[in-house]
Amino acid sequence: MVFYQPSSARVVLEMIEQVCIGADDLFYDLGSGLGQVPILVHLLTGASCRGIEFEPAYCAYARRVATRLKLPRVRFLINADLRATDYADGLSSSSTRHARGQMLQNVLNKLAADTRGHNVAICTYGPCTAVVTHLPWLQRADDGTRYPTLGIFRRA
Ligand SMILES: C[S@@+](CC[C@H](N)C(=O)[O-])C[C@H]1O[C@@H](n2cnc3c(N)ncnc32)[C@H](O)[C@@H]1O
Repeated sequence: MVFYQPSSARVVLEMIEQVCIGADDLFYDLGSGLGQVPILVHLLTGASCRGIEFEPAYCAYARRVATRLKLPRVRFLINADLRATDYADGLSSSSTRHARGQMLQNVLNKLAADTRGHNVAICTYGPCTAVVTHLPWLQRADDGTRYPTLGIFRRA
């Protein structure tokens, strides 16, 4: 549904720093592709990480890497559609990037419902940041990042 474009490590490092992700957090990457983001976040913070990925081949690769690195707290949900995933299990932080249009709206509606009452940070990168900035249930929480389209939001 969207083309594959990995996030650069620099942006992931900035997100980790701005959100202050720690070992007690649970981090989701929505559309985790080959798995670099959840693996990097876990290695640097100790947080439990989940990757949601629709494409089985990407997910299989990500699982192989996590297994070889012996990272049992990094899990990849295979054939999972991020519009239908349940995010209500103590979500602390999640990132989404290239979704747009109705697809993005569906994901945001799901996040709005599932994260009610949770202390959650939602991180965006790319064009979707401009859309998320206008949502009434989220407020911008970063203090200005080095990357114009990286956004950190918390529930209003
Ligand atoms: C641009 S890649 C991002 C990969 C990784 N998160 C990163 O930042 O490096 C987006 C990923 O989202 C996946 N994707 C697209 N629509 C999806 C959906 N509805 N459910 C789950 N994954 C989806 C694609 O297969 C692709 O691997």
